[in-house]
Amino acid sequence: MTTHLPADLKTFLLGSHVALALAAPERESPLLLVNNGFSALTGYQAEEVLGQNCRFLQRDADNRQARARIHAFFDRADQNSVRTDLVNFRKDGTPFVNLLYMSKLRNRDGSVRYIFASQFDISRTRTDLLAEYDEQLGHTLTGLRPILSETGTIIDGSLLTVANSASMIAQAKMLLSTLNEAPPLA
Ligand SMILES: Cc1cc2nc3c(=O)[nH]c(=O)nc-3n(C[C@H](O)[C@H](O)[C@H](O)COP(=O)(O)O)c2cc1C
Repeated sequence: MTTHLPADLKTFLLGSHVALALAAPERESPLLLVNNGFSALTGYQAEEVLGQNCRFLQRDADNRQARARIHAFFDRADQNSVRTDLVNFRKDGTPFVNLLYMSKLRNRDGSVRYIFASQFDISRTRTDLLAEYDEQLGHTLTGLRPILSETGTIIDGSLLTVANSASMIAQAKMLLSTLNEAPPLA
């Protein structure tokens, strides 16, 4: 499934320490690549998930607001990135709050070539670890730029600085606590 990806791009993404995924821009966004960071986070190996839409990680979680934000990102031609937290489940069934970052990688004519995404578990993390992750993600995006430009793909300059979203940790913890709440007494 990764055969259509330029070799340099594939090597770069597979070597990154943050969890990453790349999808084709078609309606169902089939996954073209996931790296080891993605597998470590979710418990799924590449061969189990390539070709699928990544929503399988949500299982039966509601995620209505988060999905609406993602839909807006897909629908608005001028929106290049989105960041949202949403409830996901690892392969072993453990829930976590995924801080999902997605951006459009475009051809020179403006059409979308790939959807890039990165995942981070903010449910059990500390603010400093999120800041570190944001920095690594920023480095990854910066490193991607020359590799992509060789293949005629553009990464919007505004994407290179990932907004520090430490405040989202608090929100994620609230979301997680609602998941862990004991079922109401009958
Ligand atoms: C490259 C890529 C990676 C994604 N990664 C995740 C993920 O890790 N977790 C998740 O819940 N959704 C992820 N998504 C979002 C879902 O695939 C889907 O777009 C979202 O659930 C909204 O669409 P839906 O309402 O049709 O499910 C990813 C999407 C893309 C394109």
